[in-house]
Order: sequence, then structure tokens, then C-alpha cells
Amino acid sequence: MKVAVVGATGLVGSEILTVLAERNFPVTELIPVASERSKGKEIDFKGKKYKVVTPAEAIALRPDVALFSAGGGTSTEYAPQFAEAGITVVDNSSAWRMDPTKKLVVPEVNGTVLSAADKIIANPNCSTIQMVVVLQPLHAKYKIKRVVVSTYQSVTGTGVKAVNQLMDERAGKEGEKAYPYQIDLNVIPHIDVFQDNGYTKEEMKMIQETNKIMGDDSIRVTATTVRIPVMGGHSEAVNIEFENDFDLAEVRQLLAEQEGVIVVDDPANLQYPMPKDAHGKDEVLVGRIRRDESQDKTLNLWVVADNLRKGAATNAVQIAELLLKRGLI
Ligand code: A2P
Repeated sequence: MKVAVVGATGLVGSEILTVLAERNFPVTELIPVASERSKGKEIDFKGKKYKVVTPAEAIALRPDVALFSAGGGTSTEYAPQFAEAGITVVDNSSAWRMDPTKKLVVPEVNGTVLSAADKIIANPNCSTIQMVVVLQPLHAKYKIKRVVVSTYQSVTGTGVKAVNQLMDERAGKEGEKAYPYQIDLNVIPHIDVFQDNGYTKEEMKMIQETNKIMGDDSIRVTATTVRIPVMGGHSEAVNIEFENDFDLAEVRQLLAEQEGVIVVDDPANLQYPMPKDAHGKDEVLVGRIRRDESQDKTLNLWVVADNLRKGAATNAVQIAELLLKRGLI
């Protein structure tokens, strides 16, 4: 496979390179792509050096698949040009996610929706991915009525500038700001831009993308998304109301059997998921599994994953693996 990684010099792009190498994706030729600024820069992949090219140059090199993580503007402009040239695009931006003609895919949840006709496939928002992986087996068994989620999101989700802001603040240095406020020793209840309804765009993504991926608009979702001064991954407190009652031991078993999920839930031994443990892992960690005692048929969970891995790079590479396995690329 000739594989282009668009945004190869960015945080998610470099994680995609790591995941491609780790999972032994059959890359015969890597085409690292970034902006004109990075043209000619060398990128290491599996001990070989590759020169960064621009999106237009990459199209001319005719990769089989292109993994995009270079922002919505780049995806809006170039993904259709790649697709037009017969190159299948897996896009990590929000540009195509809610387009009714595009599939929004988490392989463990709705991988079966993919077909040969899909030339631009959208990778969901990081917070949504880790939540739906956990919701899926529970919905299949007990039918979800409503989800209330609050997030505790890592600065890595914002990109290099945000990581630098946190580190500069911690070191007492002046530097570029990714956020409107100090993030170190603080919590910012604001991710992406505010909408007319008072929610942020990140919150609306979690609502709309969950319905689309799970193929069920009857699931009611409300979200509060919050940035915290953490590096390793995103955490989520998830409250789920079901149509049917559940058995806690069975919930634990369903989660333990779900592909891509690890149950870390042993309060007696202080075992629960934390972002520092999720860091660098492909799996979603779930713990604090307990009944909501204030309401019938309702469950509380704590869900943690590395947002650059399952929330972005890993999921994109898994989509490419699925396309390959099905002979769709
Ligand atoms: P570059 O390094 O040349 O700016 P992050 O979100 O971590 O900041 O990374 C963004 C990624 O998207 C980088 O690899 C960046 O490349 C790339 N990028 C930004 N604008 C463009 C563009 N117009 N064409 C191609 N790649 C782009």
C-alpha cells in the first residue's frame, strides 16, 4: 500500500505514523504531506527517511489511501481532489462528519457500513469515539434512552500550541497561547466555539456524532465538555439511562468482552482508569462501574482513552485496516 499521511508533521499525524508502524500496516511507500512550510523536511518511518511533500504533489504520486489530519480547511479543500483521483481518504477533521453522504466510522461499532463507494470516510471526534465504543454493547443489550456526559479533556486534543502553553505556564515562561485563559492549575469549560443554543461545538459534536455512529436518533445525549491541564488522554463521566434494567455483573462482562475495551474497576485495590495509564494505549479503559442510585435503570461509568490514539490516529488506521481487509482499497 502506498500511504499518504496529510498533516504528518502535526501531533495526530506523527501519532498516525507511530500507529502504522506499530500495527505493521503494509506500507510499501510512505508519502508524508504537510504545508508548503514543511516541504522537503525529512520524516523518519521504520528506519527510512521520507521527504515531506505538499497535498498537490501527493495527489500526483497516486497513493492508495490518504489519512488526513491537517485541520478542516485542508480537508475541505483537498479531500475531494484526492477522492476524484481515486484515492480513498480517511479524514480526521470535522469537515465531513455530519455530511449525510459520508460515513462516520468507529470500526468496533459500525464498521459494517463501509462500502467500495466510500471515497471520503470521516473519523469521529475524539471524545465521541471513546464513549460510543463503550455504549455500543450496552445499547445492544438494554437499549439506551439517555446519556449525560461530562468530559475532562487533555490539552493534546488542541495540538502542539496547547501543549506548549501548558508547559510554558508550568515553567513560568511567556509564550504563545492556545486558550483564552491560563490552563495550568485551571479548568476551562469551553472546547471549540460557542453555538446559539449555549452549547459549544465540541458538545454538539458529541450529541450528533453519537446518534449518527450508533445509527439511532432516539438516543438522547447531553454533554458538558471541559479542558483540563492533563496530557495523557481524555476522561469522561458517563451517566446512562436504559429502557430495560441491567445486571451489574452482566454489564461488566459485556464491557470486558467488547473489542478495544479494558475494564479497570477494582475500587478495593484503588484500580480505576486514569489518563496517565491510558497514554500510548489503543484501548478504551472503563471503570467506576456502578448503579445510579438516584434513578432506576441508570448506570454510571468512568471512561478514559488516549485521545491521540483511539480518539484519532488508531481509529483512522483501524478504518484503513478494515478497508484493506474487505478489499475496498
Ligand atoms: P505544517 O507543519 O507544515 O504546518 P497540529 O494540529 O498538531 O498543529 O498539526 C497540523 C498539521 O496540518 C501539520 O502537519 C501541518 O503542517 C498540517 N497543515 C496545516 N495546513 C496545511 C495545508 N494547507 N496543507 C497541508 N498540510 C497542512
